[in-house]
Amino acid sequence: MTFVESDTLKRVKPSPTLAVTAKARELARQGKKVISLGAGEPDFDTPENICDAAIKAIKRGETRYTDVDGIPELKAAIVEKFKRENGLEYKTTQVSVSPGGKPVIYNALMASVNVGDEVIIPAPYWVSYPDMVLLAGGTPVFAVGEMSTGFKLKPETLEAAITPKTKWLILNSPSNPSGAAYTEAELKALGEVLKRHPQVWILTDDMYEHLTFDGFKYTTIAQVCPELYDRTLTMNGVSKAYSMTGWRIGYAAGPEPLIKAMSKIISQSTSNPCSIAQWAAVEALNGPQDFISERAAVFQKRRDLVVAGLNACEGIHCPTPEGAFYVYPSIEGLIGKTAPSGKVIQTDEDFASELLQQETVAVVHGAAFGLSPFFRISYATSEAVLTEACERIQRFCASLK
Ligand SMILES: Cc1ncc(COP(=O)(O)O)c(C=O)c1O
Repeated sequence: MTFVESDTLKRVKPSPTLAVTAKARELARQGKKVISLGAGEPDFDTPENICDAAIKAIKRGETRYTDVDGIPELKAAIVEKFKRENGLEYKTTQVSVSPGGKPVIYNALMASVNVGDEVIIPAPYWVSYPDMVLLAGGTPVFAVGEMSTGFKLKPETLEAAITPKTKWLILNSPSNPSGAAYTEAELKALGEVLKRHPQVWILTDDMYEHLTFDGFKYTTIAQVCPELYDRTLTMNGVSKAYSMTGWRIGYAAGPEPLIKAMSKIISQSTSNPCSIAQWAAVEALNGPQDFISERAAVFQKRRDLVVAGLNACEGIHCPTPEGAFYVYPSIEGLIGKTAPSGKVIQTDEDFASELLQQETVAVVHGAAFGLSPFFRISYATSEAVLTEACERIQRFCASLK
């Protein structure tokens, strides 16, 4: 018997960012000197105090099942984090922990979305949102944030996207892939629209909260629009800020009935996140925080290097983002040009594929994030590698006729 995918799975596609990484690996196996700017993870190590906390947890015997949605100590640390950093008051019963930020979003959607429900996703978006909505049986509705508005959703665009069927708006600030972060005033303006539509819940993905630049004042929507607190799920995690992508701890806080529903899903799917990683996350949130701004300063320097390097390329325009570790340059000026291979660059996918073939630099094409013609660079790598990558991209652009 041949294997046939379920109808649910047929609705989704595999992650395009992982596909780019796989292609780059294949070229590297052939002996090519590939520069891979596709992956979305910090190149820093997990701080030592966090690793030590994990080792101590093992030695203490914290190696058994825990409460399915997180140990009380971690929930308490999360409550404290939201109070300290976001001015948000939650009870531990309003907190849910899962193996990474990704399953937190997945659980929230699975717990709440019915067939036919619409979920508004501002584009460009993180690749997993639409497919998670589809897996949950919902319909993704895309609302474009243009480059002219810093890739941010305008209140009138949001208003036009809302229907009686809208269940959620997913906000992501700073954004993967654009690095755009919403100011307090911008969030308030979106909040004004949302106040008029009480059926819409807000899922805010604050994963890159700590990676902002130039003194940007970070805020999250439940903080600046308290009227929306009762229908907002504020999601975050330790993966990016604490360089803990492999530990798999993400969390969210929100209304208790939603948190309970998410816990029901967790109890019948993943069960608790790794007990040892949970203790490491307790130390991450309660321990010293000063390294975060030091690392953010390193990212800011790299951002400046990459933005300047890309803007020196003929046909590329690269805006300066407020946060995360991505840039999202436009290649509008290169569309219609011909590569030395004879290939005409008609789409951003053509651009990424020719760049990989010709200069062995791996980037992700904008169509994967729902807005073309752009591409995404993750600059979570050394300045030397980034300098070399920019030189190769400059050479590639100059070779297009
Ligand atoms: C915007 C955004 N949200 C969530 C996640 C998921 O984070 P985690 O690795 O904790 O599952 C990522 C990871 O790339 C991300 O970029």
